[in-house]
Parts: sequence; C-alpha cells; structure tokens
Amino acid sequence: MFLSGYKEYCQEFYDHNIIYFRPTNRFIGEFQLRTELTEKVMTGIGSIGYSVRVTEQGKGLRTEILRQGLDIAREHHLEKALLTINDQNTKSAHICEKLGGVLMDKIAAYKNDEGEHVMRRYWIYL
Ligand SMILES: CC(C)(COP(=O)(O)OP(=O)(O)OC[C@H]1O[C@@H](n2cnc3c(N)ncnc32)[C@H](O)[C@@H]1OP(=O)(O)O)[C@@H](O)C(=O)NCCC(=O)NCCS
Repeated sequence: MFLSGYKEYCQEFYDHNIIYFRPTNRFIGEFQLRTELTEKVMTGIGSIGYSVRVTEQGKGLRTEILRQGLDIAREHHLEKALLTINDQNTKSAHICEKLGGVLMDKIAAYKNDEGEHVMRRYWIYL
C-alpha cells in the first residue's frame, strides 16, 4: 500500500517533468526506531534496527543513516537506545562499540530466521 503509493508519487514528478524536485529512486537502507522499552524490544528486536543495501555496503553510508537516526531518537527525548545484535554479527557489534555502545549482557534468543543464537544487548546513551 505505502510502497505502491510512493512509487506513483515519484512517477508523477517525472511524468509532469517537474525538474525542481526529483524524489529519490535509490533505496539505500533503512532505520527503524522503537521508542518504548517493551518486553519484545528488550528480549528481541531492540530499540533500533538499521541496514544498508548489500550493493551499497562498505561506502560509509551506515554512518550517515545512523547519525540521522540517532538524531531522531534524541528528538524523541530518549536517553538511551537498546541494540540487540546476533553474537555472530561481528560487523554490527564493531559499529555499535564504535558508537559508544555499552555491552549490557549476552542472552539466549530465538528468531525464525536466525534460530537459537546468542544475542548481545548494548545500550547506546544518547
Ligand atoms: C551493519 C551494516 C548496516 C553496516 O554497513 P556497511 O556499509 O557494511 O558498513 P561499513 O562497511 O561502512 O563499515 C563496517 C565497519 O565494520 C568493520 N567490519 C567489516 N567486517 C567486519 C567483521 N566481519 N567483523 C568486525 N568488523 C567488521 C569495518 O572495518 C568497518 O569498520 P570501521 O568503520 O572502523 O572502518 C550492513 O552490513 C548491514 O546492513 N547488515 C545487515 C543488517 C544488519 O546486520 N543490521 C544490524 C542489525 S543489529
């Protein structure tokens, strides 16, 4: 629903040859923010989810996505955000620690795609 609407919205700018504003046609990544520390957030998905499109990785784009995302978290007056990271996702753990993430603990977790695994929980203080 949202996706098809957004595509139509973009197309109309091109169809009407509006040159002053061109909506982006490069979907490079995403940032998700959950503002409540619910049970599901604490034991599963964390406050923040983010990713960079595979073919766009390694270009430093995650820095910009995270910078903007953490600014949004501050605008929501969050004092800290929880990142939950699969223990095997060493790249994400590295990035989190570079951002000042403080390891709270490691817990056993289960997700359909990841199966039984060890999950690191980090706090990022904003
Ligand atoms: C996590 C993600 C957003 C990072 O984006 P990226 O564009 O690949 O990241 P970059 O290449 O800019 O930077 C990676 C950093 O990790 C380091 N790194 C790369 N591979 C690594 C590995 N296997 N282990 C540890 N560090 C690693 C790089 O040296 C670099 O460090 P630096 O900034 O100190 O130089 C991206 O890989 C992604 O979308 N992954 C899938 C989704 C995901 O895991 N999201 C996080 C869920 S918690």
